Amino acid sequence: MNKHAAVDLKAAKITGGVGNDQRHDSAHKHVSGEAVYIDDMPEPSGTLHGCLGLATVAHGTIRKMDLAAVRAAPGVVCVLTAKDVPGENDISPTGRHDEPVLADGKVQFHGQPIFAVIAGTREEARRACRLAVVKYRELPAIIDIGGLDPDKDKLVTPPLTLKRGDAGEAIAKAPRRVKGKMRIGGQDHFYLEGHIALAIPGEDHDVTVYSSTQHPSEVQHMVAHALGVPSHAVTVEIRRMGGGFGGKETQSNQFAALAAIAAKKLGRAVKIRPDRDDDMTATGKRHDFLVDYEVGFDDEGNILGVDYSYAARCGFSSDLSGPVTDRALFHCDNAYFYPNVHARSAPLYTNTVSNTAFRGFGGPQGMVAAERVIDEIAFATGKDALDIRKRNFYGTTDRNVTPYHQKVEDNIIHRIVAELEESSNYARRRREIAAFNNNSRIVKRGLALTPVKFGISFTATHYNQAGALVHVYTDGSVHLNHGGTEMGQGLYLKVAQVVAEEFQIDLDKVKITATTTGKVPNTSATAASSGSDLNGMAAQNAARQIRKRLADFAADKFQVPADQVVFLPNRVRIGNQEIPFAELVRQAYFARIQLSAAGFYKTPKIHWNRDKGEGHPFYYFAYGASCSEVSVDTLTGEYMIERTDILHETGRSLNRAIDLGQVEGGFVQGVGWLTTEELWWDDKGRLRTHAPSTYKIPLASDRPKVFNVTLADWPENHEPTIHRSKAVGEPPLMLGMSVLHALSDAVASVADHRICPRLDAPATPERVLMAIEELHAEAAK
Ligand code: MTE
Ligand code: HPA
Ligand code: MOS
Repeated sequence: MNKHAAVDLKAAKITGGVGNDQRHDSAHKHVSGEAVYIDDMPEPSGTLHGCLGLATVAHGTIRKMDLAAVRAAPGVVCVLTAKDVPGENDISPTGRHDEPVLADGKVQFHGQPIFAVIAGTREEARRACRLAVVKYRELPAIIDIGGLDPDKDKLVTPPLTLKRGDAGEAIAKAPRRVKGKMRIGGQDHFYLEGHIALAIPGEDHDVTVYSSTQHPSEVQHMVAHALGVPSHAVTVEIRRMGGGFGGKETQSNQFAALAAIAAKKLGRAVKIRPDRDDDMTATGKRHDFLVDYEVGFDDEGNILGVDYSYAARCGFSSDLSGPVTDRALFHCDNAYFYPNVHARSAPLYTNTVSNTAFRGFGGPQGMVAAERVIDEIAFATGKDALDIRKRNFYGTTDRNVTPYHQKVEDNIIHRIVAELEESSNYARRRREIAAFNNNSRIVKRGLALTPVKFGISFTATHYNQAGALVHVYTDGSVHLNHGGTEMGQGLYLKVAQVVAEEFQIDLDKVKITATTTGKVPNTSATAASSGSDLNGMAAQNAARQIRKRLADFAADKFQVPADQVVFLPNRVRIGNQEIPFAELVRQAYFARIQLSAAGFYKTPKIHWNRDKGEGHPFYYFAYGASCSEVSVDTLTGEYMIERTDILHETGRSLNRAIDLGQVEGGFVQGVGWLTTEELWWDDKGRLRTHAPSTYKIPLASDRPKVFNVTLADWPENHEPTIHRSKAVGEPPLMLGMSVLHALSDAVASVADHRICPRLDAPATPERVLMAIEELHAEAAK
C-alpha cells in the first residue's frame, strides 16, 4: 500500500474536517513556485501571443488607423480590429451593450483597446503595437467628476435612492447641523498575477479558454457571443488566480474574447498576457467617489437625520457600476441607526477606464463617508468619536431598521467593540496619547477605533445560487468540483473540508479540481464574499446525496435499520460491524449504486425591490472592529502605524487559519487604499500611476509595528449557513478605516482637536501635511 492509501481506521477524528485549521492546500506550492498559473502551463506547439493596441486620446473618433507597419513587423501573424469580431462586438456584463471588445470608430478613454496584434512572441507583438499610426478627431473629454452635476450630467446606469423617514425635515429641525464633502480615491487591484487568457481552438466551433477569471461562466458567455457560437462550444477553465480582488469579475472578458477570436481565426493557440502597465491602464479599478453629506444631531451627538449624495466616477461604460454604487448606499449606515435618512447615488460617465468590482464593491466607500459624519459630530460636540459611534449603533431589538428597510437581526457590534475597547486599552491609551502630544512638538500621535458591519449576499438576487459536482471513485477517493474559483482566499480548501466532513474521510482523500464550465454550468462570479457560503452548501448537498445512497445500500445489504448506519472517521458502522469507507464504496459499486452527484444551493430569505428601495437584500451581516494608533511627523506628513488591534468575527469558522489570513490581508489592503495608493489621471486622461514606481501599495515594512489580530471565538451565524460560518473575504478590508481616522486624530491634535481635519482619502503624506497646514492656518485666525 502506498502512503496515500493508508487510512487510520481507529481515528477519533478525520484529519482536515470542518473547523480544522489546515494551511492553504497550495501554500507550499505558492512559495516553492510549483503552483501552476496559466502562464506556467506548457504551451501547445505553435502558440501565438497577443498584445493590445491602446488608444492615445481620452475621447474622439478614429479618423484613420494605419496598421501597415504593424502588419509588416517581424513575427506578426495577424492584426485584429473591431471588424474581425465575428459575433457581437460587446462584452458588457449587464447587457447594456456599452462596452466593445475593440473600439469601433469611437474612443472613450485613453488606453482603450482599439486593435490587437498576434505574433510569434509576446515581445514581437508588443513592439509591433507601437508602430500603429492612428489619427483621431478629438472630442471634449470628462476626466474628473469634480465639476459634474448628478442631475444633469450623463450617467452610465440608473441611480438609486434609499429613504426612510424625512431626512430633510429632521435635519432642518435638529439642534445642530453639519454639512460637508469628502473625496474618496479609487484603487488598483494589483493582483500579483495580471490578466491572462490562453485560447486553444478545437473542432468545429469549439474553443477552450484558460482564463484568469473570477467568473468562468461569464467569460464563456462573452466568448460565445463574440464568436457568434452557442455557449456549448466554449469551455472555460481556471485552476487558480494569483489574486483577483474583484478585478477579475468582469475584466477578464476582454482578454479571453480576443484570445478566442484570434485562436479560431488562425487555428492556433493564442495567449494574451498584458504587461503590468497595460494591465493597469486598460482595466477597471475601484470607483473613486465624491460624497456630499449633511447631518442633523442633538447636543449629545445622537444622529437625527442624514442626507448623502454619492457621486462615483464610473468610466465610459456601466460594467458593474450599478450594483457597486447600490452597495455604496447599502453601507451609508455602516453600523449606525439613522432615524431619518435620504441617500442617493450618481453613477457618472467619464472618459476614463470603466471602473469595476473591488473588495467591498462600493461598500467601503459608503462606510468611509459614514465614518466621516461620525467624526464631524464628534468635533462639533467635543466628544470622543468612539462615544459618538457607540451611541449611534444599531439596537438589537429596536432602532434596527436600515435605510433599505431590512431589519438588522444579528447585531453583535456592541460586544465586538466593547471587547476590542477593553483588549486594546483604548481609554488608557487615549489619555497617554494626549499626554504624549502635549510633550512632543513635532511628532504627534493619533488613535481611532472604527466598526465594520457588512451585508452578505449578491444584491442581484439571482446571483445567489451555486452548483457542485462530486464523484466517489471505487477506491473511496473523491473528486470535487464546484462553481467557485480560487484566488488565494482558500475557497477550494474550505469546500474540500466540508466534503471530507460529510463523508467522514481524511481531507487528502478529497481531490480539489480546477473550476470549469464543463462540469458545473451557469455559475455566479466568485464574489460578494459568498464563495464558501454558496459553494460549500452546493458541495455538501452533492455529498449528502451520495452518502444517503451509500447508507440506504448498507442498511439494505446488511439488513439493519437506516439509523444504524453511521459514518465514523474513515469507516462506516453498520449495525455492530465496522467496515472501511472505501470497502463500502466498492461494494456499492458492484451493487450498481450511483456514486456521483450534482449539488445545488440557493440562498433563502433574500429579496430586493430596487424601484422602491426596500427589501431584504442581505442574508446576514458580518461584523468586526479595529483600533489603530499612528504617529505623524508634522513637518513632513510622513507617518507610521504604531499599533493595530483587530477583533473580527467569522461566525463558527470553517478554518481559522485561512480566516486569519483574510483578516490580516484585507486590513492591509484597506490601509493601502486609504493611505498610499493614489490613482492620478492627467488633464489628457492619461493614467500616470500605471506601475509600482508611481503607485504605492503597502510593503511588509508598512504593517503596524504591533499587530494583534483576533478572531472572535464566540459568534455563530444565526442563519443556517454552512456549518454556521460567515463570509470573510471582503469585510476585513474596511477595518483599514481605523488608520484613516487615527491619522485624522493625529492631525487634529495640532489645533487642539477643535477643528475637524476633513482628511480625504487616500491620506498620503502630502495630503496629511496639507491638512496640518490648513489646521495651523485656521487655528491662527
Ligand atoms: N483573498 C485573496 N488572497 N485573493 C483575492 O483575490 N479576493 C477578495 C476576497 N479575498 C481575494 C481574497 C474578494 S474581492 C472577494 S469577493 C472574496 O475573497 C471572494 O472569495 P470568497 O467569496 O470565497 O471569500
Ligand atoms: N458584490 C460583488 N460582486 C457583484 C455583486 C455584489 O453585490 N453584484 C454583482 N456582482
Ligand atoms: Mo469581490 S469585489 O466581490 O470580487
